[in-house]
Amino acid sequence: MHSGRHIVNLALIGFMGTGKTSVGKLVAEQLHFDFLDTDEMIHQRTGRTIADIFAKDGEPAFRAMEHQVVTEICQRKKTVISTGGGLPTNPKNLELLKSRALVVCLWSSPEKIWERVRHQSHRPLLHDPSPQQKIKDLLAARESFYKQADVLINTDTRSLREVAVQVALQFKLGS
Ligand code: S3P
Repeated sequence: MHSGRHIVNLALIGFMGTGKTSVGKLVAEQLHFDFLDTDEMIHQRTGRTIADIFAKDGEPAFRAMEHQVVTEICQRKKTVISTGGGLPTNPKNLELLKSRALVVCLWSSPEKIWERVRHQSHRPLLHDPSPQQKIKDLLAARESFYKQADVLINTDTRSLREVAVQVALQFKLGS
């Protein structure tokens, strides 16, 4: 699977609300890796919320920041990288991640995603008159990107801890 690849990191990709950050932290503990989250890094660097960046600078400006952050993070080793849900829609980002990380996608159905995000308000793309339809449309548009991950894990029927155990196992098998 990894001919020519030097797998020293683990990257989690997937739609909003699939548990990337929570699972990533648990996996980092299990593997004794550092943990980094691309949204959190953008927030720390700019001192602004993601919603504010989207509102004032627009989505393309946010995507440029995301690309910059992923370029830097990929140079690291022994790091679990949790990514924003739209990050793998830029093929360059996916290529960068794959160069040094095993890429694991956390997958969920639109219904489960809605259950998990419906009481949260920090995601600008879901500030929509029909958020449930928006989730379905975005997920359909992104499916082909998510499915380029090395490993796909369905999170609908598993607890965060169970997902974390699966992810750590896949990393041990695949690195
Ligand atoms: C986004 C997902 C968010 C965040 C931003 C855009 C997306 O991250 O990067 O709101 O395009 O799906 P999470 O997946 O961590 O919610």
